[in-house]
Amino acid sequence: MSFPEKRLRRLRASSSMRRLVRQISLSPDNFIYPLFVRPGQGLKEPIKSMTDCFGFSPDTIAAEAAEVAALGIPAVLLFGTPKKKDEKGSEAWAEDGAVQRAIRQIKKACPELLVITDVCLCAYTTHGHCGIVKNNQIDNDATCELLAKTALSHAQAGADIVAPSDMMDGRVKFIHEALEENGFHNTAIMAYSAKYASAFYGPFRDVADSAPAFGDRKTYQMDPPNAKQAMMEIEMDIKEGADIVMVKPALCYLDIIRRAKDRFDTPIAAYNVSGEYMMLNSAADAGLLEKEAAMIETLYAIKRAGADIIITYFAKQAAKLLRK
Ligand code: PBG
Repeated sequence: MSFPEKRLRRLRASSSMRRLVRQISLSPDNFIYPLFVRPGQGLKEPIKSMTDCFGFSPDTIAAEAAEVAALGIPAVLLFGTPKKKDEKGSEAWAEDGAVQRAIRQIKKACPELLVITDVCLCAYTTHGHCGIVKNNQIDNDATCELLAKTALSHAQAGADIVAPSDMMDGRVKFIHEALEENGFHNTAIMAYSAKYASAFYGPFRDVADSAPAFGDRKTYQMDPPNAKQAMMEIEMDIKEGADIVMVKPALCYLDIIRRAKDRFDTPIAAYNVSGEYMMLNSAADAGLLEKEAAMIETLYAIKRAGADIIITYFAKQAAKLLRK
């Protein structure tokens, strides 16, 4: 059928009609909200580079987590910083580290809220790289052992999911084995599988004070022009034991999300990163676009591309809006 028998505008004629035929939906069920943990007490410090984001100490974070849970968001993703950085990033696996303490506080206050932890060394090392440095190179296998140790310490503190974000080869295997050997059969792994060496992490690096002191992350994070390599990264991570795989960032990589969705049955997460978040906030602050509408459109785009799960700093705001 063609015009005038067929008129596609019929199905757009009212809000109810549009709702009825909408092909994807957004729900807080699929959001993960990132939270920043700082050592100390009584802290809720605004993060200058990121609108509406705060650094919490382990004693104040449970109240924030409860708010997230009450909005129907099933999971938070914790990022930590140490009291003191060193060459190896030892505080990353400290039993009394800020993240480990925060996990315990959150699980005590909201047992049903999933606690996911970012597993990486960059915020904990003096040089700011995601791994161990030997002769100015990142030592892959030595790093994997420390990542496994870190993931295990998170599991021991009560984390439901550990999320390695370093991009070392084989780290999922190391983490998977460490969890299994120590009886953490139900701790899931969400791997940052296709994580690109992106300029869109800019605002985040301010938060974690984790910019590399020399060089960049291009020897471990993916080269932006590559798509097929992302499929290899994802496939390897699934084989090594990843329960959820991730594409990061989201917006410049919607094609990667779609390819991954078409090819794999493992749940796919997409990370709507700090730079993407602040581009939209800054444009809205400058009066250039309407924030809520642009936010919802962005989240729809990520979902439509094929993401089952969206990690976003907009999670709370979007959840509130979706409830209306
Ligand atoms: C740590 C890590 C980073 C992000 C998440 N985990 C920074 C980086 O890789 O440089 C970025 C998150 C964001 O920008 O929102 N490896």
